[in-house]
Amino acid sequence: MMPNVATKAPTDVEDVLRIEDISMSFGPVTALRNVDLHLRRGEVLGLVGDNGAGKSTLVKILTGLYKPDHGRIYLDGEEVRFRSVQDAREHGIETVFQDLALVDELSVYHNLFLNREHTVGGWFRFLKNRSMRAAARRYLDEIDVDVPSIDVPVAKLSGGQRQAIAVARATRQKNIRILLLDEPLAAMGAKETSLIIQLIKGLCHQTDISVIVIDHNYTHLFEVCDRINVIQQGRVTLDKNLSEITLEELIELMVQSYRREIAQPATGTFSEVSIETSIEVTVANQSVQDAD
Ligand SMILES: Nc1ncnc2c1ncn2[C@@H]1O[C@H](COP(=O)(O)OP(=O)(O)OP(=O)(O)O)[C@@H](O)[C@H]1O
Ligand SMILES: [Mg+2]
Repeated sequence: MMPNVATKAPTDVEDVLRIEDISMSFGPVTALRNVDLHLRRGEVLGLVGDNGAGKSTLVKILTGLYKPDHGRIYLDGEEVRFRSVQDAREHGIETVFQDLALVDELSVYHNLFLNREHTVGGWFRFLKNRSMRAAARRYLDEIDVDVPSIDVPVAKLSGGQRQAIAVARATRQKNIRILLLDEPLAAMGAKETSLIIQLIKGLCHQTDISVIVIDHNYTHLFEVCDRINVIQQGRVTLDKNLSEITLEELIELMVQSYRREIAQPATGTFSEVSIETSIEVTVANQSVQDAD
């Protein structure tokens, strides 16, 4: 098979991922406009932006699900063009979407090995349950994920525990370089949120894995990220290390840009009421979290 490599990029050696000038439209809707973004080795990058800003589209391009209209993607300085999700996966990119893709009826350890089961035999293959159980136990202990039992169906786990199993499944892949998390903390309680935040932090400190995480709650992002990028109407409008911006400044910046959007709607896709509601919800969320 031909390697998927085209040209060398003039890239920072620390960058595991660099994307340049990526644009993508769905019919008349422009989801991404000339996006440049980079991700360093072992870094957690947070993506924030209002609903419909283009965050998930970017993740889906990096997952190999969508092909951008134009632009370039570099992995460790080599240009890549993903032909499929499997192709992106073979390049070390794993994604956990909100629906998780776990099989409710299967046990924790079977889910950890989903589609990559240990088997034995020739024509008739049998699952090596004992070996998978032991490997699952070892791995979950290693990354500090605590579940009541690895034999229970995942349907019996809490949302946070299920999310942890989905992350564990993604990071078990031997060649993983980049983990993409699209709203992993949505609808999580405080305890579960802290479980996932600790898990992401631990993975980045103990391994070379780099993470892109999308979340609407900036307080969570400030706990887990090294750097924040803001995406607005398909453009990256801010790129700051956490040492360069405070939570209050980020909230203020987002509120200001919502206000500008109200004054001069760019696409007419948002109503004034929905924007005001969105600001209130976002700010209220931050205050609740701050009070904890
Ligand atoms: N499959 C699709 N077909 C048509 N339009 C799409 C499709 N996927 C996304 N879009 C449009 O592209 C724009 C960006 O959507 P995207 O899902 O990337 O936003 P987002 O930043 O992830 O928003 P949210 O925070 O609500 O998840 C939106 O206007 C959306 O309606
Ligand atoms: Mg999204």
